[in-house]
Amino acid sequence: MTINKKNQVQRIFDSISTRYDFLNHFLSAGIDIYWRRKALRLTKIGSKSKLLDLACGTGDFALEAEKFGVKEIIGADLSFNMLKVFHEKSESSKGKIVQTIAEVLPFKSNSFTNITVAFGVRNFFDIQSAFIEFNRVLSNKGKATVLEFRLPEKGIVKSLYLFYFHKILPAIGRLISKDNEAYTYLPESVNDFDKNINLVELFKKAGFEKVEKHSLTFGICQVTIAYK
Ligand SMILES: C[S@@+](CC[C@H](N)C(=O)[O-])C[C@H]1O[C@@H](n2cnc3c(N)ncnc32)[C@H](O)[C@@H]1O
Repeated sequence: MTINKKNQVQRIFDSISTRYDFLNHFLSAGIDIYWRRKALRLTKIGSKSKLLDLACGTGDFALEAEKFGVKEIIGADLSFNMLKVFHEKSESSKGKIVQTIAEVLPFKSNSFTNITVAFGVRNFFDIQSAFIEFNRVLSNKGKATVLEFRLPEKGIVKSLYLFYFHKILPAIGRLISKDNEAYTYLPESVNDFDKNINLVELFKKAGFEKVEKHSLTFGICQVTIAYK
């Protein structure tokens, strides 16, 4: 089951890597850029931070963090092709990219002040193990910041959003990415995540002291910050 999910996720992101950035900005009408910026502001990232950006993909979160003055950044991801796009996109990424799964990290304990994950946790095949690893590699008082999709709670926004998310987005995604699975997987994985995953509980079980949540844009997106 878990190996299946890992292989499925790796295959999807390896397949859509060159069209990922365009589709991301297009399908969210650019609002994903605001969400990443807001998450970094909420977590008070800055020049003293030593950052591990996990599930970094093509690097948009890590590159945004650079604009906040962060100098030490490592980007890590499961998908070689996503990392390749990151590498080609940025001079500063060179030498600071690692191919790894989040569930077993190749870093020493207490190595980072911050870990960030944007739109990645939902895809992890074992979120609990990943959070235990986050706790291990974070230094004392370190923070893990997760930006992830959620579903709006009720009303007209929820109906409109679900219509867009289940009907329009997969059709456009399929057409442009030429991958039949990727943009059906996206709404399915968000549904499943929203229904079944309690990040606060998982962070606490992994040993984090305090966890806070911030809802963005009618609850479509959520920032969760866990303090070691
Ligand atoms: C939707 S992309 C997000 C990329 C980037 N963070 C962003 O904001 O655009 C999700 C990324 O998570 C990575 N990923 C999924 N499961 C993973 C795992 N278990 N370990 C490491 N990376 C994983 C995928 O390869 C993919 O690049």
